[in-house]
Amino acid sequence: MRVHVLLSELVESAILKATGESASAVLRRASDLKFGDYQANGLLPLAKRLGKNPRELAQATASLLEQAPQFSKVEVAGPGFINLTLAVEFANKSLNTSLQDARIGVAPVAKPSHIVVDFSSPNIAKQMHVGHLRSSILGAAMVRLFREVGHRVTGDNHLGDWGTQFGMLIVGMRRFGDQAALEETPVVELERVYKLATAAAKEDSTIGDTARAELAKLQAGDPANRALWQQFVSATRTSLDRVYAMLGVEFDLWMGESAYEEMLPGVIKLLEEKKLVREDAGALCVFFNELEQSPDDLKKQEQPFIVRKADGAYLYSTTDIATLQYRHDTLKADRAVYVVDARQGLHFRQLFALSAMLGIPTRLEHPGFGSVLGADGKPLKTRNGSAITLESLLTEATARALARVQEEGLEIPADQIDAAARTIGIGAVKYADLKQNLASDYTFDWDKMTSFKGNSGPYLQYAYARIQSIFRKGEVQSAADGTIQIQAPEEWALARELMQFPDVVHEAAEQLLPHLVCDHLYAVARAFSAFYEACPVLKAEGPSRASRLALASLTAAQLQRGLYLLGIGTLERM
Ligand code: ARG
Repeated sequence: MRVHVLLSELVESAILKATGESASAVLRRASDLKFGDYQANGLLPLAKRLGKNPRELAQATASLLEQAPQFSKVEVAGPGFINLTLAVEFANKSLNTSLQDARIGVAPVAKPSHIVVDFSSPNIAKQMHVGHLRSSILGAAMVRLFREVGHRVTGDNHLGDWGTQFGMLIVGMRRFGDQAALEETPVVELERVYKLATAAAKEDSTIGDTARAELAKLQAGDPANRALWQQFVSATRTSLDRVYAMLGVEFDLWMGESAYEEMLPGVIKLLEEKKLVREDAGALCVFFNELEQSPDDLKKQEQPFIVRKADGAYLYSTTDIATLQYRHDTLKADRAVYVVDARQGLHFRQLFALSAMLGIPTRLEHPGFGSVLGADGKPLKTRNGSAITLESLLTEATARALARVQEEGLEIPADQIDAAARTIGIGAVKYADLKQNLASDYTFDWDKMTSFKGNSGPYLQYAYARIQSIFRKGEVQSAADGTIQIQAPEEWALARELMQFPDVVHEAAEQLLPHLVCDHLYAVARAFSAFYEACPVLKAEGPSRASRLALASLTAAQLQRGLYLLGIGTLERM
């Protein structure tokens, strides 16, 4: 049950009855328990709209709400807020229903959509670095959140396998390449020849021209260049698969830029027919500042969207337009979410505007995320200044988790310790990333992230394992069979948090904000800790013991499911 939604509806129907007007309840959780559990603020804007006294409207609404069994207390406060305190019976009922529900209260949406989540999407022939961490982790969490609330989801890895870098790679491979090394350590070899070729191009300008010519040849289907490209792609794929296995990230579809190649001439034709492009120094461009249909923010945008270069090569923009068409016409997606760095904001604003001009009805979103920073406030680098590869980062996370586990003297059976270190280490990295509002940059901090205290992945995993250990100690088989009956204030405080879960999952999915799940789990873990300190569980008796075990069981279920939604595993013993 979505408590927040239910209560909003209650308040809104009371407003309608009391005032004859419909208005939003503007319901918030109360900042302080002495004001109750929720505050409805909707009477103020309504009174303003009607030119009436807000306190009078609030009073009339409150008198109706007093009769609702969901509340134990309803009070008008300040200039016209309504403070609402939940009735214990209502909380008991809501929690017991969740406890008996396999989906722990998260009902599916009434109208499911088909959503494409475009995520991870690294460029071929480069190692995945920390930058790709965010897209992979955030995207995977969004996929799970959407599915959890009942949508149909296609997770698509839109690989950068068709860009300008291939001209340089072909030249580099022919001049400096080592076939044996390409087979052995493909990505290292590709990065090496790429660096050599770009350095050589600085000395000798003909190299740049050759690279562009090779790219055009590749795109025109030249067999030798094709074969080389194919080799680059499959070699990189092997190394990507290794990282995804470490991360536990999966895709439903791998459609890189190259998959849209055949559609590209058609894209150009359509843009020409619709008079959305014109030539500029031989290149074909969309000038948003020249198009009447442009949205306001792009009306002044001088930077065009280049869809074909003078030498005939297509670009990132062109493949992205074809991708839009494919997702609408063939996949029949209703929505597409691009989990990409905020620095690509302009590209997506332009792409989305063009999509509207082409009449493609797909709902498009770009939750642009911030950067991962080092302690110096600059994008995270290794000590010698190169970008940190994702693989080395994940390996280090696991090693650090192992050291922590040994330090803390945790009770993990010896044969499970390596797997546990992976679950903890990688979970720590993921959680540290996900707990931030995705729009902000964040500072990478090994110590905070692997700490067993504070808002961290290991802390939540530990909270879950601790509950399992209570059950083991008490030889409790089915804690979920008990009935929750809230008594002590610490039980109330925990119950108030637990009741939020269905709303949180829906909101996180709707607003594309996985950190809302993190905030919730942390609040639950803390409330559980306070409850466990104040209220004996195994030593309690009768209905009180059963109720407390049931509360613990619901807490564990939310921690486990919530972490699962974030792509983080749990351990039965820690
Ligand atoms: N390959 C791009 C990069 O690494 C990200 C692609 C995102 N997806 C898209 N449809 N443009 O920056």
